[in-house]
Amino acid sequence: MGLLLLSNEVDQLVVTENVSDTAVQLRALYHLSVELSALRSLGSVLKTALKHCLDLTGSQFGFIGLITADKTAIDVVEVQGFHPAREFYDHFRVIPLRPNLFSRVVLENVSVRTENALTDPRRVGQPQGHPGVKTFLGVPLRIREVPIGMIGVANRHLDYEVEHEHLLMTYAAQVAIVIRNAQLYEELVAAKADLEQKVAHRTHELQKAQEALAQKAAQLRQLFNETVDIQEAERQRIAQDMHDGINQLLIGAMLELKSGRERLAVGNLGQADNSLQAVQGILRNVETEIKRVIYDLRPPTLDALGLVSELRRYIQDFKQYTNLNCTVNIKGKSVRLPGQVEVSIYRLLQEALQNIYSHASAHRVRITICFTENDLELSVCDDGIGFDLNAVEQINSRHFGLITMRERAKSLNGRLSIRTQPGQGTSITLSVPLQPGHPKEN
Ligand SMILES: Nc1ncnc2c1ncn2[C@@H]1O[C@H](COP(=O)(O)OP(=O)(O)OP(=O)(O)O)[C@@H](O)[C@H]1O
Ligand SMILES: [Mg+2]
Repeated sequence: MGLLLLSNEVDQLVVTENVSDTAVQLRALYHLSVELSALRSLGSVLKTALKHCLDLTGSQFGFIGLITADKTAIDVVEVQGFHPAREFYDHFRVIPLRPNLFSRVVLENVSVRTENALTDPRRVGQPQGHPGVKTFLGVPLRIREVPIGMIGVANRHLDYEVEHEHLLMTYAAQVAIVIRNAQLYEELVAAKADLEQKVAHRTHELQKAQEALAQKAAQLRQLFNETVDIQEAERQRIAQDMHDGINQLLIGAMLELKSGRERLAVGNLGQADNSLQAVQGILRNVETEIKRVIYDLRPPTLDALGLVSELRRYIQDFKQYTNLNCTVNIKGKSVRLPGQVEVSIYRLLQEALQNIYSHASAHRVRITICFTENDLELSVCDDGIGFDLNAVEQINSRHFGLITMRERAKSLNGRLSIRTQPGQGTSITLSVPLQPGHPKEN
């Protein structure tokens, strides 16, 4: 029995019996393939391909199924000539691959043709609601001989002939390639979208990092200006101290010496001695005053006695001065650190305690200094009112204590962690790595 395609206009393909015209068939297939290969989206490829298959074979309905990723089932991705209800389709669109009339097509990678599916011994039945299948033709969709799915057509009013089978096989070879291309194209589009999303995400992150950097730079600029101001104020204060304290005392001493000499000159030894004693007293005051100024600049006993002793002394003074309940706990064997490192740690503790005194309304303060093999950890915890760290660390903040602490920690290659919340107290921990070979403190 032959097959004639009366028109090479793809939409009007009509299949008749009796006459075989290979040239017409080839032309029709060519047109179908051209139309098919112009399509990009998988959805339109499937729609157009199945429509052509129904037209080519004069079938009542048909489907295209693709093997699922786990290769255990066929996913019916396109159905035509039968309009299943949504629930029916959702429920039956994935058909497990079992040896039956349909699945043989992909399991055995062969075409299957039957004149009566109802009586075919390979049949296993069909779900309720599915239109009755009588004549059936199924061909595999293959890429390099390996099946990726199948095309099934059914209910041609006459039997499917071997020509239908060949025609559908030839067309299926084209369809498989176009489906694969469409799949690859969709994967490419998805990969591109994914990449674009990642790029957008990275750009956003970069922007945020740049903003954070700009914020940090602004803070540092502010800090620098503030440091210059503080330095200037400190110089002024020292000059004032020298002028009002030491200078005045020295002037007093000189006047007293002058009067002592005058008393000596007139032989008034007793009064001359009084003057000398007064000068001695004044010079003692000068000495105390100079010590105070020097101490403010840099605690002199830090170098001599070491960090732990100096911290203890400072905490003791702080306790007396503030009446706060402070406990100090030293753990591990203390070691000496380079002078600048010890000063930085000392200043950091000063700032932490000053903050507690000025802001925390705390009752108890717990200070722990812990020396381990590799680092020194200083933590200062209070049970005060706590604060909103993010808000305080915002740009344009006029507070420099915490920023300076962070900068100090960084310059020591250390880490500073500030844990606080309004109403929850504050805990500040500095951790500084110990260089190998730091001498042990006595
Ligand atoms: N232990 C604490 N308990 C409660 N609030 C604190 C504590 N430490 C810091 N704060 C809050 O954090 C803010 C910032 O502290 P920071 O030391 O940076 O600045 P400051 O003390 O206000 O001023 P300065 O620049 O003179 O140190 C404080 O104003 C205070 O509100
Ligand atoms: Mg402060």
